[in-house]
Amino acid sequence: MRAVAITGDHTAAVVDIDRPAPAAGEVLLDVSYCGICGSDLHMLGMPAGMLPPGHVLGHEFTAVIAELGPQAEGWAVGDRVVVFPMIACGECDACRTGHPNLCGSGIDQGPGIGRQGGYAESVAVPAGMLRPLPATVSDADGALTEPLAVAIRAIRISGATPHEPVCVLGAGPLGMLTTAVLRARGFGRVAVVEPTGARRAAAGRLGVAAVSPDEAAARIAPLLADEPPAVVIDTTGHPSGAPLAVALLAPAGRLTVVGLPDDPAPIDLAQLAVKELTVRGSLCYDEDDFTEALGHIAAGRIPCRQIITSITSLEEAPARLADLSAGTTQEIKILLRPGHPA
Ligand SMILES: NC(=O)c1ccc[n+]([C@@H]2O[C@H](COP(=O)([O-])OP(=O)(O)OC[C@H]3O[C@@H](n4cnc5c(N)ncnc54)[C@H](O)[C@@H]3O)[C@@H](O)[C@H]2O)c1
Ligand SMILES: [Zn+2]
Ligand SMILES: [Zn+2]
Repeated sequence: MRAVAITGDHTAAVVDIDRPAPAAGEVLLDVSYCGICGSDLHMLGMPAGMLPPGHVLGHEFTAVIAELGPQAEGWAVGDRVVVFPMIACGECDACRTGHPNLCGSGIDQGPGIGRQGGYAESVAVPAGMLRPLPATVSDADGALTEPLAVAIRAIRISGATPHEPVCVLGAGPLGMLTTAVLRARGFGRVAVVEPTGARRAAAGRLGVAAVSPDEAAARIAPLLADEPPAVVIDTTGHPSGAPLAVALLAPAGRLTVVGLPDDPAPIDLAQLAVKELTVRGSLCYDEDDFTEALGHIAAGRIPCRQIITSITSLEEAPARLADLSAGTTQEIKILLRPGHPA
């Protein structure tokens, strides 16, 4: 079968590999749609010792069950599913203290992370990772469930309430989904910061103003009815995001960091003290976040078609990944459709 795998030189290539056989407790899935995530770009850049050549990326996918392995119960061939790409161990410190989203082994065993992922015609995953895809959610829109759950958790962690002014840093897929959820929940004062013109325009189509990082210090408060943001959600995955957030935030403001920069960020700690800022990270999602994400999509509250800007084949994936890494793309979320060759 066809798949897209990491090569030895930090690029991706279409490869022909064996269709996996589902082991005990696993199901074989035919992938319907798989999203390309900013995290996939980080993974492409990792040393070969961390992610070996031949690794198939992709953790944001919908699929149809093709085959049940031994002891994979409760599902039937033909069921439409969305994958919750981690299973918490239930025993580590994170799990025992009520943070299953922080379970290291749960994340490490995720498809596209520690096992072969969804940039492939078919993939085998533990049955415990399957969630039914409601009839009202299309296979394509369903592929937004996972990143939408990340956005929902980031907003939850921030404690933002609809009357507060909120600034979202970055209008990539995660920033756009965060903005879309804030809009769906009735937040009236939301502004976005994003260096790329096409992505600022995309944020504008969600009904919020977007400015470049250079303009942010002067323009964000005026866009929020002359108040600095009480909450900043940093989805940039870039070291320039957090210092900008610290500069923009109101006294007693809260910064939620959801992007994952490859390098440390220089933060002015004196500003943290002087403004009594709170900084919190947000990682992945729990069952409630995922269920809420699916519910939002099913209810039509997320403008999925403004976020999914193109649907393409596995053959196109290497070039699209290169465009996204170079920052030259006009795209927001690109979905791969493995069952339809170019
Ligand atoms: N915490 C989690 O659980 C989690 C989950 C998924 C993804 N992520 C991470 O979130 C980040 C975002 O993911 P994505 O798919 O949206 O990626 P992306 O790279 O497409 O989007 C990031 C956007 O931030 C913009 N940006 C860069 N510097 C900026 C600045 N100083 N101010 C404002 N905008 C700036 C970029 O132009 C880009 O449009 C990535 O680092 C990804 O790895 C985290
Ligand atoms: Zn992702
Ligand atoms: Zn655990």
